[in-house]
Amino acid sequence: MSVLSINQNSFTLEKRLRRNRKSAAIRSLIRETSLLRSDLIMPFFLLGGKGRKEKIESMPGVHRMSLDHILNAIDSYHQLGIQAFALFPVLEKEKKCPQGIEALNAQGMLPRAIRAIKKEFPEICLIADIALDPFTSHGHDGVISDDGKILNDETLQALGEMALIQADAGVDIVAPSDMMDGRVGYLRKALDSSSFTDTSILSYSAKYSSSFYSPFREALGSSLSFGDKKTYQMDPANSREAILEALFDEEEGADILMIKPASLYLDIISKIREATNKPVAAFHVSGEYSMVMAAHAKGFLDADAAFYETLLSIKRAGADMIFSYAIDSALKFI
Ligand code: PBG
Repeated sequence: MSVLSINQNSFTLEKRLRRNRKSAAIRSLIRETSLLRSDLIMPFFLLGGKGRKEKIESMPGVHRMSLDHILNAIDSYHQLGIQAFALFPVLEKEKKCPQGIEALNAQGMLPRAIRAIKKEFPEICLIADIALDPFTSHGHDGVISDDGKILNDETLQALGEMALIQADAGVDIVAPSDMMDGRVGYLRKALDSSSFTDTSILSYSAKYSSSFYSPFREALGSSLSFGDKKTYQMDPANSREAILEALFDEEEGADILMIKPASLYLDIISKIREATNKPVAAFHVSGEYSMVMAAHAKGFLDADAAFYETLLSIKRAGADMIFSYAIDSALKFI
C-alpha cells in the first residue's frame, strides 16, 4: 500500500512520548538523572617542590602540580562546590626502585601533602590511592619476584603500611587500586588495629586491564618496563567476575566499591549497583578524557558537551560518585 493512500483524518496516534519533550521546562520535570557537583571527585597529579605546574601532553588541560598550586586549585574548586579530591604522586626517577620503598616513607611527598591539605581544608574529602606503581621503577602495582611475578601477599604488607601512613597523615579515604587479592580485608584490619577506625576504604573493585590508562601512566612516568597487568587487573571480557570482586570487597569491609574505566563499562556499573547496597563509584579514566580531547582538537565534536553526556551516562548507569579529569567541562552544565 502506498503512503499516499493513508487517510490523515482517520490516523490518530494514542501514544505520544514526544509530549514530555516539548519544552525545556517539561524536560527538566521528567529528567530521571541529575549530575551534581557533589558527585564529582577531582584527581590531582602531585609534583614535589614549589611553584611547579607542568602540562601533560596526552591530557590537554590537565597538569602535574606542586602542592602550592594544588592548594590553590582545591580552594577554587571547593568554592565551586567540588568537595572531594584525589592525589596521585609523581615521583622523580631517582626516588623509584623495584620494591617501591618510597611508598613507605612517612615523610614522603604524599603524606606531607595530605597533612598540608587537610590542615588548610579540614572539611573537604581527601582520597589517596594505595598502590605501589607510582613508586616502583618497573611501573607494576606490587612487589615482584626474581622471575618477574607480582607477589600478592608480600604486596599486601607494603599496602598496609602505606595505608597507615596516609591515614596517620589525615586522609579521609584510602583507595586501593592494585587489585591484589584480599587487600581490602588486610587494610581494614591494619587500619582498625592502629585505631584508624574512621579511615574509609574506597576499593577499586572491578578494575580492568585497560588500554585507557596510558595517558595516566605518561603523567606519572609509570609506564611498564616489562609485561602487562593482566595477572592482577581484570579481563575486559568478564562481568560476572566483576560482581565477585565487588562482593568480596564488600565482605572484607570496603565502604565504597569502584568500577574502572567507566564509560565502556556501564553494564558493569549497572550490575554492581544491583548487586550491592554499598555506594558505587566509577573512574572516568585518563584515556576516556584524552580521546575526547583529541577529537575536540580536530573539531570532530565538542568536548564540554561530550563530557557532560558521558558523566551523566555514568551516573545513570548507577554510579553515586565519579572520578573525572573533565570536571571543568561538567561545571559549564551543572
Ligand atoms: C594505579 C592507578 C592507575 C590508575 C589509577 N590508579 C593506573 C594503572 O592501574 O595502571 C588509572 C587512572 C587513569 O587512567 O586515569 N594503580
